[in-house]
Amino acid sequence: MISDQSKKEIDFWVKKYPEGRESSAVMQALTIVQKENNGSLTNELIKEIAGYLGMPVISVQEVATFYENYNHKPVGKYVIRFCHNISCMLNGSDDLISYLEEKLEVKTGEISKNGLVSVKKVECLGACVGGPMCQIGDQYYEHLTTKKIDEILGNLK
Ligand code: FES
Repeated sequence: MISDQSKKEIDFWVKKYPEGRESSAVMQALTIVQKENNGSLTNELIKEIAGYLGMPVISVQEVATFYENYNHKPVGKYVIRFCHNISCMLNGSDDLISYLEEKLEVKTGEISKNGLVSVKKVECLGACVGGPMCQIGDQYYEHLTTKKIDEILGNLK
């Protein structure tokens, strides 16, 4: 269920668009609700968002499943979004993702045993010059190496 606090946050974004264009806030609404639900969305929540914004459920589903920002199954406290697009791939992202999977004993899309971390392969995050790179929360980590990955993991508590 979407909390009153989240509805207030959604309203903030809805007000940025002309009347009758509430659907323009759908990406922000999905982001807010996903955050409230520990990092993932459910069909129920998507239906609720659709009702709140006056949109067909399928339209909200389309947005929620098109963009990689949204998770449709539970995730760890931290989601490591690892780019595996061309620049990052040419600079070794596949090997680093394998390293990460080995180190965390998880496969991409799974949650580490302690529930702390999930790994997700994503398309270009727009930081190609810094590849290989990943995103955790709002932070980008660029020019990654196995040593840097060890440091990053060591700081996740
Ligand atoms: S290819 Fe990885 S950030 Fe663009």
